[in-house]
Amino acid sequence: MKNNPLPRLDESPELRERLLPHCRLKPGEIWEDPEGRHRVGCLDAADGPAIARLMRDDRATLAIHDPPYNLVAFETRDIRDYIAWCRRWIQVTDAVLAPDAALYVWLGADQNDGFQPLADFMVMMRGEPFAPRSFITMRNQRGYGTQKNWMAVRQELLYYVKGKPVFHVEAEYTDIPKILRGYYKEVGGQMTENLQRGRADTIRAGNVWVDVQQVFYRMQENVSGCYAQKPLKAIERIVRASSRKREIVIDFFSHSGTTLLAAELLDRRCFTADNDPLFCEITIRRLEHSRTTGKLGWQNGHPFENEISSPHFLHKPHSKSRSERISSHSFLFS
Ligand SMILES: C[S@@+](CC[C@H](N)C(=O)[O-])C[C@H]1O[C@@H](n2cnc3c(N)ncnc32)[C@H](O)[C@@H]1O
Repeated sequence: MKNNPLPRLDESPELRERLLPHCRLKPGEIWEDPEGRHRVGCLDAADGPAIARLMRDDRATLAIHDPPYNLVAFETRDIRDYIAWCRRWIQVTDAVLAPDAALYVWLGADQNDGFQPLADFMVMMRGEPFAPRSFITMRNQRGYGTQKNWMAVRQELLYYVKGKPVFHVEAEYTDIPKILRGYYKEVGGQMTENLQRGRADTIRAGNVWVDVQQVFYRMQENVSGCYAQKPLKAIERIVRASSRKREIVIDFFSHSGTTLLAAELLDRRCFTADNDPLFCEITIRRLEHSRTTGKLGWQNGHPFENEISSPHFLHKPHSKSRSERISSHSFLFS
């Protein structure tokens, strides 16, 4: 396995300067997939006219958003400002979704600060034209915490709808093992419990996902340089459940391009944005890399290997900052 990772790009100003000239998009620009399927815009999620340029007259049936969480690990703002900003990109999203559409939002809850911004976001959404459908929890393998509190191992995912979008029960896809015994019932004079009664060893995905591996540097899908990459398996589950083939999926916080890759693999189209040219470039390269090699990421290599092979500063031992230790995104730092 290669040992040529990039450090967190948001925390490496020197490296950012070196990589920016290799980015195809400048702020405001949009990349068109030569195969005519996807679009990537270097755009602000809350900028309605910019997102309208990304969409043209097309409408999406599924939005999957994973904004920065307003936690110390990223950039903390006053919660009122943060929620006002969320309301803006939610309204921009509403404007470009079809009448029947699903919206998923990943968001964190700071247990040291009133569970913001998740709690505030949920209340804000009551005033928007989306109906809540589910509150999903994805369990991380690695957590953070001290001996004085429960280990934090969850990621929160909100599911909303407008109109009546599709929802495919995905019984055939999950490999979630049956783990809970109990629920005893008499069958043919014998007392049985639920694990004995069911024919399948696995269950369909409910709103607690315990079967999704966090991304880390040994996995092929790993995109080093990114600090908040979501597992492809989780995004594929959402795409399968809440869209049909050839429909359009949007994601205004692309980062490592997981939603775009899931759309590519599952025969959907993806129109995605990030306001950072570096993450737009990574998104485009991840798609190209997948098309040319069949690979999902670079494992412990990186997307800019042609431009920078292994500069010495990339190999400084990486000690965890406080923010990394407490971040709910912190599963990536290895
Ligand atoms: C949590 S990450 C998304 C991770 C992504 N789901 C993945 O799997 O790689 C958030 C991304 O939002 C981008 N971002 C932050 N503010 C933005 C804004 N106003 N408009 C668009 N993108 C923004 C950041 O550059 C970052 O790449």
